[in-house]
Order: sequence, then C-alpha cells, then structure tokens
Amino acid sequence: MATRNQTRDRNSRSDKSSARNSAEKSAFNFDRVEDNAVPLLGALAAGAAIGIGANWARKFLQQKSESMMAGNEWDEILKLEHKATLAKFDLLLATEDDETGKRASLVKTIHYALNKHAHQEEQVVYPALRQANETVDADHLEHEHGYVKTYLYRLENMEKDSAEFLPTVREFRDLIEEHARMEEEQVYPRFKTSMSEEQNAKITMLMNKEGMKMN
Ligand SMILES: [Fe+2]
Ligand SMILES: [Fe+2]
Repeated sequence: MATRNQTRDRNSRSDKSSARNSAEKSAFNFDRVEDNAVPLLGALAAGAAIGIGANWARKFLQQKSESMMAGNEWDEILKLEHKATLAKFDLLLATEDDETGKRASLVKTIHYALNKHAHQEEQVVYPALRQANETVDADHLEHEHGYVKTYLYRLENMEKDSAEFLPTVREFRDLIEEHARMEEEQVYPRFKTSMSEEQNAKITMLMNKEGMKMN
C-alpha cells in the first residue's frame, strides 16, 4: 500500500507534469516567443523580482523594528502590541456619531492589528504552551480569540452611527484588556520562566517569522 508521502510525491510529480503540459499548450509559452519580445520579457521578469524583493524587505524591516523595540523578547513584543491596540480602541471610543468614516477606518486598523497578533499567538505561542502541558490556559485563550472575531464581525457590519456602536466597542475593549492581562500577568511570565534562554529565543524567532507573513 502506498504511504501518504509516496502518494503526495506522486501527486506533486503529476501536478508538475500537468503544469508543464499546460504551459506548453498555453498562449503564454515563452519558449516560442518572437525574438523582439525577449527584452520586454526580461524587463518584466526583473521588475517582478524587484517587486517581490522590495515587499519582502519591507515586511522584514517592519517586523525587525517591532521586535527590536521589544528587546527581541516574544512576550515583550506581544505586550507592546496589546498596548498599541488598546490605544486604538481609545481613539475609537473618543469618536462622535457623525465621524462614521473615521470609525470605519479605525475598526479596520484594529482588525488588522488583532489578526496579526492572534496569528502569532495561535501559530506559535499557544502550541508551545500546549507542548509544555499548559493546555487549559492555551485552550481558554484561544477560545477567547473566537469572541474577538465575533466582536470584529459585529462592529464591521454595524451602522457606524448606531446607538449600539460605542457600547459594543466598550465591551470589546474590556474583553481585550482582560484577555491581555491574563496573558501578561499570569500565563506568559510563568511559561517564560519555565523555559531555557534558547527555548525563549526560538519562540521569538518563530513568532517573528509568523508576524512577518501578516505585515
Ligand atoms: Fe491572545
Ligand atoms: Fe495577546
């Protein structure tokens, strides 16, 4: 019986071969391109490479500077993100009902910040907690992330001048503050001290890698 790896290898070989076949049949077959089109294709390829490189460099620098501000410590990076997000909630709470554009834009900013933050925790920190037998805390925290998404969904789909808008933002902010307090004051310090310097450095490295994907 074929193992899962063998099946995957076979599938990937057949994907590559069908991709090759369709490229040969495709109208974008660069092998048969007219000679006078070659410089143009070269320029396009170089431009794409520069574009990808510049985008990667921007993501890298952004993540690097955030990490350095927090002393390259995973828990300090997360703490800074909590603080920055709560500050955005305060800006949102200070808006008036007629500032609907500003409210919509702040909700988007908060959504982006929380998405990136949750991604880093869910892809690296919570799995590491579970590996260290801190499953109850990890499950509790991840369960609360579900409600974070629910509040984002409600705020995004609510009229921004609704009487319900600010009370919902206030409830949401309370949830974030309580969640962040549990992470910062209970779960993360205990977990961090239980790990070696190398283990903490590895979590910082893995978390930065995941964070970069979301920049
Ligand atoms: Fe969290
Ligand atoms: Fe957090």
